Amino acid sequence: MISHKNIVVTGASSGIGKSIMEELLKQEGNCILAACRRAEAIVSYGDNVIPFSCDLSTKEGVDRLFAKAEEVFAGQHIDLYFCNAGAPYYERFDYEDWDRIRRIFDLNTVAHIYTYSKYLHHLDGREGRLVYTISAMGEMALPGYALYAATKFAMKGFQQAIRDETPKNLQISCIYPVSTKTNFFNVGGGGRKMEPPFPVQAPEKVGKAVVKGVSNLKKHIYPCPVYLPSKVLMNAVPPVKTLYIKAQKGKLHRFVKRVEAEKEGIREDIRLKWTLKKGG
Ligand SMILES: NC(=O)c1ccc[n+]([C@@H]2O[C@H](COP(=O)([O-])OP(=O)(O)OC[C@H]3O[C@@H](n4cnc5c(N)ncnc54)[C@H](OP(=O)(O)O)[C@@H]3O)[C@@H](O)[C@H]2O)c1
Repeated sequence: MISHKNIVVTGASSGIGKSIMEELLKQEGNCILAACRRAEAIVSYGDNVIPFSCDLSTKEGVDRLFAKAEEVFAGQHIDLYFCNAGAPYYERFDYEDWDRIRRIFDLNTVAHIYTYSKYLHHLDGREGRLVYTISAMGEMALPGYALYAATKFAMKGFQQAIRDETPKNLQISCIYPVSTKTNFFNVGGGGRKMEPPFPVQAPEKVGKAVVKGVSNLKKHIYPCPVYLPSKVLMNAVPPVKTLYIKAQKGKLHRFVKRVEAEKEGIREDIRLKWTLKKGG
């Protein structure tokens, strides 16, 4: 049971973060600082939720969030910090673009690692728990998600090493959701239709499993009950994994075709406009 705690939830305006926040609000007395870029989307939760706008892909955004937490929790410390804000790219990785690569790592990895240091200093010996939303894709990468999976594998590595360095007052929990019906699949494809990897969960189920796991002080939380058995099966019977990956390759292939058709359609439109203009 998590009650009467000072809590930060990042990425609280939608999807998994929103479900975690709503689950936490079912318990008595939790006070939540709810962060994302569009805090105006966080409405009707009452006085126990303080929406806060910040860009968590920047150092300034993370610093501002900690400063805000110190102000709203008025000298008390953050008991629980859900480091959840993140986003995917869904694409065939065949380009040279330093800034694009940087952007996804800034949000999904650099900010999460920097948050660890900030939180450790904020606690100053007091007890706290940092909860990282990693992903099933932090354990098994899939075609179309090369950069996204790389950001999550980095977090998997970070938490593994840091656990053995961290003072006892700071505990870490990591969550590994499978595909979850959120904005994730709109963001990843830039608004184009994406076919999520199987299986797909509802965010409410993930929120429930996460809060239960954190209440039980779990170090690793797998919200989908079939995930771990599937992992064992894929390791024991490699052709199952090969078939699964093949299905994901098919999805990427169809996605890339749609993007190319869209681009060709736009080029055709432009050509037509020019021809009409010249003719006119
Ligand atoms: N959905 C899945 O299938 C899935 C599976 C495994 C892991 N995950 C992980 O779960 C986490 C939450 O994703 P979701 O599925 O709930 O997606 P979502 O519905 O798109 O939610 C993402 C949240 O992050 C916030 N956010 C994005 N960029 C931000 C930025 N620069 N600064 C501050 N906040 C930012 C968004 O709010 P604003 O847009 O207002 O900023 C939103 O509240 C991510 O770390 C994701 O990698 C998702």
